[in-house]
Amino acid sequence: MKFFVDSADINEIAHLNDLGLVDGVTTNPSLILKSGGDVMEVTKRICGIVDGPVSAEVVATEYEAMMAESRTLAGIADNVCIKVPLTWDGLNACRTIRTEMNRLVNVTLCFSANQALLAAKAGASFISPFVGRLDDTGADGMALITEIRSVYDNYAFETEILTASVRTVHHIKGAALIGSDVVTAPPAVLKAMVNHPLTDKGLRQFLADWKKTGQDIVR
Ligand code: E4P
Repeated sequence: MKFFVDSADINEIAHLNDLGLVDGVTTNPSLILKSGGDVMEVTKRICGIVDGPVSAEVVATEYEAMMAESRTLAGIADNVCIKVPLTWDGLNACRTIRTEMNRLVNVTLCFSANQALLAAKAGASFISPFVGRLDDTGADGMALITEIRSVYDNYAFETEILTASVRTVHHIKGAALIGSDVVTAPPAVLKAMVNHPLTDKGLRQFLADWKKTGQDIVR
């Protein structure tokens, strides 16, 4: 499973990249706002750090304007993946970007299996189902990942499932068990994956016992 970082924070992305945890990055207008930077500059800096796809989102809602924004975003770097919303205009833009610009496309704001099916038919490289936002409404976000996995496998669609709106490490484990191709998670959630109290307790015990031996490994 690929790990994408759901952030526009340069320092966090660089840190996780050094740990070998970054196969790509997803940004959105809210994350650009949080970064406090200019969308072009921030995206360019991220693309310079990360080899994999960096999703940059259009903010236009009509096809022609989406295409103009897509061309501008694609000019930032070769690894920019254009992110479009799951609307008819977004799906049309997806089809054109894939066929005429030969760029990766991430179709975002997916909340149903039928939407995911439409995105695959439009040639999307990635579909982004938002599990956390579904959970917020009382629905079962991870059930959507299971449904999309079945639909895509039934017809051998190559669109990759990019589990998004991840809030906890449980979402990451669930996505891995279902067979999501990618998970995008905030830096804090990715870093929390290493935590286990028994690891900490066990390490404390080993170190205490080792001290009692009076030995050094490097002599
Ligand atoms: C990623 O592509 C999405 O924009 C992001 O995961 C949304 O997460 P949120 O629901 O926490 O804003």
